[in-house]
Amino acid sequence: MSSYVITGKNKLNGEVTIETSKNATLPILAASVMSNGIVTIKNIPNFSDIDNMIKILQEIGVKVNKINNDVTLDASGKLNYTLPKELTSKIRASIFLLGPLLAKLGKASSYMPGGCNIGKRPIDIHLSGFKDLGITVTETSEKIICDASEFTGGKTKLRFASVGATENLIMCACLSYLKTTIIENAAKEPEIIDLCDFINSMGGKIYGAGTDKIVIVGVKQLNGTVYTPIPDRIIAGTYLIGAAMCGGKVVIKNVNPMHNESLIANLISFGCKIDYDSDNIYLESSGFLKANGKQFITNPYPGFSTDLQAQTMAMLSVTDGNNTITENLFETRFKQADELVKMGACIKTDGNVATIYGKHGCLKSSLVNASDLRGGASLVLAALVAEGTTTVQNIEYIERGYDNFDKKLNSLGADIKRIQ
Ligand code: UD1
Repeated sequence: MSSYVITGKNKLNGEVTIETSKNATLPILAASVMSNGIVTIKNIPNFSDIDNMIKILQEIGVKVNKINNDVTLDASGKLNYTLPKELTSKIRASIFLLGPLLAKLGKASSYMPGGCNIGKRPIDIHLSGFKDLGITVTETSEKIICDASEFTGGKTKLRFASVGATENLIMCACLSYLKTTIIENAAKEPEIIDLCDFINSMGGKIYGAGTDKIVIVGVKQLNGTVYTPIPDRIIAGTYLIGAAMCGGKVVIKNVNPMHNESLIANLISFGCKIDYDSDNIYLESSGFLKANGKQFITNPYPGFSTDLQAQTMAMLSVTDGNNTITENLFETRFKQADELVKMGACIKTDGNVATIYGKHGCLKSSLVNASDLRGGASLVLAALVAEGTTTVQNIEYIERGYDNFDKKLNSLGADIKRIQ
């Protein structure tokens, strides 16, 4: 168990370069299984989920060569359609391999992915979509076996715009030659557009990504490609929120400002000055933020992102005014609230609604625990503006989604020590 020991009250100044998106890279790695050529994915981020996904690919027969942050994949040999039990239990995103394996081999089987510490996370939308398209799904208590030998294509309408289900359904339809599949109420996240751009760069025919209706026309085969996934909009958003809270002048580099449009608008309304060009965001903040009566309600993209909810709660704790957050996507995603209260924040939660009575300078040092990735990041942001020295424990959760978080924040002027 490692910790960050953070001495607060430093302003943040300088430049930080954002890593490639984990949530874009995971399905892209899975989709590379469908190719008959050599696929190179450039600039992949250094996270354990990515390493585990690569290990699963190797175990099912993909030849992988990683040089620095570029990975080359060759899935043209014999592949196994059963995903390995131990690794799939470690990484929920292994579920993304069902679609590509169904497309390429006509069969896929996996152990049930568990829930996780932000909620139950079922996969019923993935499976009912598969069934709509003619795939037979057999579920036992611990395994799912899917058979696409009678794949029909046609139309499926998601009961909720799930990111993962949209990605799986797109992928399962890519190689059904001349059959057309339509996904209605599809998720519109930038990571979905990126996945479709990647598949289309291999010769796929996917139309409408980024809208709620995606059309896939099956092709005979997919070829090799060289591709760089998009920058991580959640990491970019976390640094923007941190700099707004601490005060200072930062440049967030390697970012698509359009992916953080609503956050940028909010930060401006809180009192920050923000400018941007095609791949940089420039933020200047006095560290004194004000907002009142705002309601942040998590929703699928382009709504307020659940992955920025916890960091926003930390910011609202030190923003003068009373505001609410409603968490609509995950059941247990307010775990950071109690820890922020320990630090002096005034937050009342009632089911999935949190009311934050914010006050500039209210946070004091404490010993706090990260219990999930984004909640953990919010505690780091809180510690950056707290009086005194705060210890954030269980930072392994945070490091699953932020590469060199301590070093990058220190390069901006923060005071963070990482201890074992
Ligand atoms: C992805 C992101 C995650 C983000 C989430 C919502 C990746 C690797 N992860 O997760 O960071 O927080 O989108 O933006 O891209 N649901 C069902 N049945 C299903 C599928 C989902 O009930 O079959 C529910 C989930 O429990 C959750 C909601 O739908 O309440 C949204 O889930 P979904 O969009 O699928 O999220 P993920 O793809 O798992």
